[in-house]
Amino acid sequence: MGFLSVLSCAHQWIGSRLQPGDFAIDATVGTGADTLFLAQQVGHRGQVIGFDIQSEALTLAQARIRKHSDSGKLGSISMLELSHARMAEVIPSGWVGKVGAVMFNLGYLPTEGANTSIITETTSTIAALEAATTLLRPRGIITVVLYPGHDGGAQEAEAVSTWASALPVEQAQVVMYRQMQRETSPYLIGIEKK
Ligand SMILES: C[S@@+](CC[C@H](N)C(=O)[O-])C[C@H]1O[C@@H](n2cnc3c(N)ncnc32)[C@H](O)[C@@H]1O
Repeated sequence: MGFLSVLSCAHQWIGSRLQPGDFAIDATVGTGADTLFLAQQVGHRGQVIGFDIQSEALTLAQARIRKHSDSGKLGSISMLELSHARMAEVIPSGWVGKVGAVMFNLGYLPTEGANTSIITETTSTIAALEAATTLLRPRGIITVVLYPGHDGGAQEAEAVSTWASALPVEQAQVVMYRQMQRETSPYLIGIEKK
């Protein structure tokens, strides 16, 4: 069968932890594949908030979600055209310490014709990760897919890895899923709150 892709692995880690009725956050909505996944996992009683700085991304995501909205099985979804750096300010106070999962899929919008110079940036990514660790409930999970292959991606990946490695073990367990032979392959970091 081979190893899972980093994205499938992130979904597996989250799918085995999220519960119906949970709160979840997609920090980088993009085309909405992860937002839809989170809304399916939390079910009709759950809620998902998504962030993206590009209206083009949110339009694509809305179109994807619309195709599934008749099922009655999705959680409610709010998508914000806003940097995830503002996560701590805009997530409702009732979510603090109660969020089941926060997904980060860094880099640029993966669609034909997209502006690949609009990428996630280290400072805002780390600010959002800090906020996400506060929002998580015990046993809640953050997944971060990192792309060291594009310009600026390796520096961001290095900064996130350094930040995650320094989290105190009493606070969280941090693991990495990575192909060892290719330095530029995407890789995944998982952070589970104690
Ligand atoms: C790799 S894509 C995400 C893919 C997405 N999860 C999916 O399922 O298609 C990265 C996205 O992050 C967005 N982005 C870049 N900087 C951001 C920021 N500061 N806050 C939120 N989103 C950002 C980009 O616009 C892009 O759509």
